[in-house]
Amino acid sequence: MGKEAAKKGGAAGRYYAAKGGENVGCGKRHALFCNHLRMILFVFGLMGSFFLLDSLMLTVIHHFNLHRRGSLQRRRWIVPQNVKSEIPTEERAEKIMYARLLALASAAISKNEIHDSIELFKEPNNQTSTWRSCSDQGNQIPQVVVGRTRTRSGYILVSANGGLNQQRVAVCNAVAVAALLNAYLVIPNFLYSSVWKDTSQFGDIYQEDFFMNYLKNDVDIVKELPSHLQSLDIEAIGSLITDNDIRKESTPEYFLRVVFPLLLKNGVVHFYGFGNRLAFDPLPLDLQKLRCKCNFHALKYAPRIQEIGSLLVRRIRKYNSSLNMLDEHLFGKHMPHAPVRRNDTSTSPVKYLAMHMRFEMDMVAYSLCDFDGGEKERRELQAYREVHFPTLTIQIKNNNSLSPEESRSLGKCPLTPEEAAIMLTALGYNSRTYIYLAGSRIYGGRSRMLSFTRLYPNVITKEDVLTPSELAPFKNFSSQLAALDFIACAAADVFAMTDSGSQLSSLVNGYRIYHGRDHAPTIRPNKKRFARILSENRTIQWHDFGERVRKMVQENQRIIARRKGRSIYRLPRTPGCMCKY
Ligand SMILES: *[C@@H]1O[C@H](CO)[C@@H](O)[C@H](O)[C@H]1NC(C)=O
Ligand SMILES: *[C@@H]1O[C@H](CO)[C@@H](O)[C@H](O)[C@H]1NC(C)=O
Ligand SMILES: *[C@@H]1O[C@H](CO)[C@@H](O)[C@H](O)[C@H]1NC(C)=O
Ligand SMILES: *[C@@H]1O[C@H](CO)[C@@H](O)[C@H](O)[C@H]1NC(C)=O
Ligand SMILES: *[C@@H]1O[C@H](CO)[C@@H](O)[C@H](O)[C@H]1NC(C)=O
Ligand SMILES: *[C@@H]1O[C@H](CO)[C@@H](O)[C@H](O)[C@H]1NC(C)=O
Repeated sequence: MGKEAAKKGGAAGRYYAAKGGENVGCGKRHALFCNHLRMILFVFGLMGSFFLLDSLMLTVIHHFNLHRRGSLQRRRWIVPQNVKSEIPTEERAEKIMYARLLALASAAISKNEIHDSIELFKEPNNQTSTWRSCSDQGNQIPQVVVGRTRTRSGYILVSANGGLNQQRVAVCNAVAVAALLNAYLVIPNFLYSSVWKDTSQFGDIYQEDFFMNYLKNDVDIVKELPSHLQSLDIEAIGSLITDNDIRKESTPEYFLRVVFPLLLKNGVVHFYGFGNRLAFDPLPLDLQKLRCKCNFHALKYAPRIQEIGSLLVRRIRKYNSSLNMLDEHLFGKHMPHAPVRRNDTSTSPVKYLAMHMRFEMDMVAYSLCDFDGGEKERRELQAYREVHFPTLTIQIKNNNSLSPEESRSLGKCPLTPEEAAIMLTALGYNSRTYIYLAGSRIYGGRSRMLSFTRLYPNVITKEDVLTPSELAPFKNFSSQLAALDFIACAAADVFAMTDSGSQLSSLVNGYRIYHGRDHAPTIRPNKKRFARILSENRTIQWHDFGERVRKMVQENQRIIARRKGRSIYRLPRTPGCMCKY
């Protein structure tokens, strides 16, 4: 049980390690002493108005709740199934870390109302050159490294672990490895995990025949092993390759040197796990291209997921037809094309922002950060770590881990709902903004979400938009539910992530870059920089704060090519995947 959670956390941890070095000039401090008194009075005034606004807002929210399906009160803040019993059920007191900034945000958000700026839903950059998707163009991959003959070297089996998005990465890496080794690929198997509790197989989530057919010129994909191999004890003959046997991000040479001979000898190898076992660099261009083709074109969600996903997005947008390329790729024929009449503004789509709030218990515990939750929360998180992150627990015991303060200043803490809300206000989003929340198993539940919903009451989740009976067929399948979140995030006018270590955020980001044609902006805070800005929470002026937050987000939106070693699934602006015009 702890293994998968640790892996998940591990992925985040690695990402942090890679990101550690980003730097930015520190803000100027205008600490004029004579201004202090005025400042203090100002703050007290604002605090007063904040609490007034607070009660007003609660009334508004209450009213609002009575008038919509799936009210905020009724909403279930679902905790991960495996830890449900470990979380105290009593209602907690609200936790506020930045009373002053929240007060300033509450005051500022009314100014946001004035300009309901269309700019906030556009990608800010206007570039002279553009990147366009192109991994589906050109010839099939030529015969890579191993001379490709008609006889294949053997069969590759894959059992992918993790959740929906980790499995997706495993599948496309397996496609590339099968092409590299000139082998047949058997449709990957999805492992059941105690964390995700989902028995879904490939065909329950993706269109199997489309997948096989789309890649037929590149790799031979079969549904099962031929019968003469089925009776083999793969482990006994030494063809089982687990994640412990193979390094993360192994090179093509490794596969040729170690795996290829096994394949020739036994006719089959079985990769067990395999999420991130194939390197991003160096890799032959053809294989890079094939991976992109797999991730961005060959993997289409099963019709029943496309259908309910389309319904979900149409309800959020209050608009019944397809808007862009992204829609076509996500929904296929399950979203009708736009009608000819597009002049009538009363029927124009509702714009929405989708957010993956990765403030979930595993992430919160793994981060080692302190979120002002007091002694009780600290104990609860420590207990969780002991169960799920044993290595981390040992590091803490040996005094070999970061302190909460260090973690925070290094940008290792997932954004709290409060921080996310303050960020959106600083960026200019007004309180009417529709916000689709993916996941929503927020740690601390309602009490943690209050500061968010007070600023942004129009928060919706798939449970609000779809009826229980519409959701019922997906309910026991966390991967299929995650697919619906993927769809709602990918199709959003703006997507905001709160932690770039999350696989969902990462793949949605890539998908929007690849298919979005520069019209699918993503807000990706630089957490280290944000932590530095927030460390001045007691003194910084709102104007300064806004400027620095906007700059932080804009700099992450620059259209630049993928840097070496970064994921092509997250950053597809790279040769083989996208072409520069
Ligand atoms: C980008 O936009 C700005 C202002 O909207 C404009 O002045 C500038 O010429 C544009 N640049 C390009 C390359 O289109
Ligand atoms: C969308 O379609 C549904 C059912 O077909 C219909 O009830 C609804 O009014 C339509 N909405 C819009 C905005 O056209
Ligand atoms: C849309 O509006 C423009 C100007 O307002 C008009 O010239 C055009 O005919 C309209 N198109 C349709 C399809 O109504
Ligand atoms: C842990 O390390 C810090 C500084 O490195 C030191 O001040 C502290 O006393 C150590 N604590 C324990 C329990 O060893
Ligand atoms: C979901 O699982 C529960 C408990 O395991 C079971 O009672 C229920 O019938 C399942 N629902 C569906 C739609 O499979
Ligand atoms: C908020 O500001 C105070 C005073 O400057 C600082 O001590 C605290 O660490 C800040 N909070 C965060 C979470 O950065």
